[in-house]
Amino acid sequence: MSKWIGAHIGVSGASRRFAAKEVLRDIRLDIPAGQFVAIVGRSGCGKSTLLRLMAGLDTPTEGKLLIDGEAVSGIREDVRMLFQDARLLPWKRTVANVQIGARTRDKEQALQALDQVGLADRAEAWPGILSGGQRQRVSLARALVSSPRLLLLDEPLGALDALTRIDMQRLIESLWERQRFTAILVTHDVSEAVALADRVVLIEEGKIAMDIKITLDRPRERDSSFIYFEKLILDRILDLGGDSPRYKKATYSI
Ligand SMILES: Nc1ncnc2c1ncn2[C@@H]1O[C@H](COP(=O)(O)OP(=O)(O)OP(=O)(O)O)[C@@H](O)[C@H]1O
Ligand SMILES: [Mg+2]
Repeated sequence: MSKWIGAHIGVSGASRRFAAKEVLRDIRLDIPAGQFVAIVGRSGCGKSTLLRLMAGLDTPTEGKLLIDGEAVSGIREDVRMLFQDARLLPWKRTVANVQIGARTRDKEQALQALDQVGLADRAEAWPGILSGGQRQRVSLARALVSSPRLLLLDEPLGALDALTRIDMQRLIESLWERQRFTAILVTHDVSEAVALADRVVLIEEGKIAMDIKITLDRPRERDSSFIYFEKLILDRILDLGGDSPRYKKATYSI
């Protein structure tokens, strides 16, 4: 498949309010084309809300979201999103589910995308007989078949067992390395964030509480530098939660 280049994302002072509740507050992010960003934070802090704004599924109450300098207004062809559940149509065969994602609905392209995620041999299978990990790979193929420039991942690995999860992480990383789309991954798993991302953004109560670069070579191993980043982020999450007063004095570069 041919190479393509990721989208540049600019979030300038974006806020999102639902009735009286301000879910996102003054979010500012500049995400260069092709960067892999992980967004972490406690449940309810606003991660999915931010992803929905980037996907054009929702609009900010204040501020702006820009893709390559253009204001996001509605769903775009070059932006795709993956959710925790694969959202496959059970009455369509695997390949037909992937064809839905292709602009031309081309079967050959869909088969190539299935091949990329290692499922060429399941093309004619019904989604109902696939495992959870296979279903997520099909939804990844459906997203990638259109050569997106921005891939938004809202905890797509959250429901998978540990080993399948590691396989999926490697697959996502290798596809990203080859195709260089911009990737934004929401995850509860700090270790997953450090394993995959160039940069980890921590959201706390709708605000960016930490924004750090993960300066580790790839492929990443769980060595002492990896654990350093993992601890840095986890300590900050615990600190923000107020569970651990002893973390209160810790300060990190933001
Ligand atoms: N459409 C909506 N109407 C009202 N409140 C909403 C709406 N969407 C989100 N919220 C609220 O915004 C807050 C943040 O929700 P969001 O789904 O972004 O959290 P999250 O960080 O993704 O959480 P989780 O990790 O559990 O998925 C929650 O309090 C949620 O109830
Ligand atoms: Mg969420």
